[in-house]
Amino acid sequence: MDLRGGSYVVAGGAGVVGEAVTRELLRLGATVTVPSRTPDRLAQLRSALPEADRDRLRTVPGDVGDPAGVLEVRDRVVDGAGRVDGVVASLGGWWEGPPLTEVAFPVWQRLIDDNLTAHFLVAQAFLPVLRGTYVALNGIAAFRPVPLSGPISVADAALTMLLRTFAAELADAPVRLHEVAILTPVVTRHWPPEEPAKPHWLTGEQVAAHVAGVLHPEFPADAPLQLRFPADCDIETADI
Ligand SMILES: NC(=O)c1ccc[n+]([C@@H]2O[C@H](COP(=O)([O-])OP(=O)(O)OC[C@H]3O[C@@H](n4cnc5c(N)ncnc54)[C@H](OP(=O)(O)O)[C@@H]3O)[C@@H](O)[C@H]2O)c1
Repeated sequence: MDLRGGSYVVAGGAGVVGEAVTRELLRLGATVTVPSRTPDRLAQLRSALPEADRDRLRTVPGDVGDPAGVLEVRDRVVDGAGRVDGVVASLGGWWEGPPLTEVAFPVWQRLIDDNLTAHFLVAQAFLPVLRGTYVALNGIAAFRPVPLSGPISVADAALTMLLRTFAAELADAPVRLHEVAILTPVVTRHWPPEEPAKPHWLTGEQVAAHVAGVLHPEFPADAPLQLRFPADCDIETADI
């Protein structure tokens, strides 16, 4: 696969899964822009990438979880790259804590902001300027309630509907929109060594290759909005 000449944005590209996706898109020859609220994370991302690919990484300090911040990031991307061929939203993050009956309101608000509102803002900012593919990543908590991670299940299920609604409203727009639901934990260089990973769990490389395939212009145009990965995962029994 070859993405040379393509210009992609990975929102959340300094995070665990986003880094893997960024690495793969660069490996395939694309130019990739990654925003982050924390310049240090952008520096760490750059230094973790193969040297040969670093000149095609563009980093933008900014907050895509803020209504004004995301527009600033979007405008810098469009000004710098000229166009956007694809966006990957790898936003949010796992959380475990008390049951919903005891979740403190600020915690609830932060988790909904991180796992749902940031997706809304990125999609709202980028979909109108995109001539290509928009991929939002989601997880297994969207499909079944995960006790002690309740706000994540709620936000992830709502993310599915957010994307369905954008897709319905943009049916005639020149964009292809997909939700890639990653149904196992993702093992990357960030995985804590004290928690042994199971052999069937996906690696960052596998997830990134899958996402790159979905972004590719030759990905089937009639593919469904929601793509489960792995497709044969038993949602009810799968590890969280
Ligand atoms: N990690 C896994 O094992 C796994 C498994 C299955 C599915 N997934 C899915 O993969 C996606 C990413 O997860 P992850 O584990 O890579 O998360 P992560 O390491 O915590 O990274 C998430 C990224 O989201 C950004 N973000 C979070 N809240 C934000 C906010 N309020 N405003 C702006 N940016 C915000 C952060 O950007 P900054 O750089 O600005 O902080 C961060 O880079 C999620 O959709 C998750 O469901 C992950």
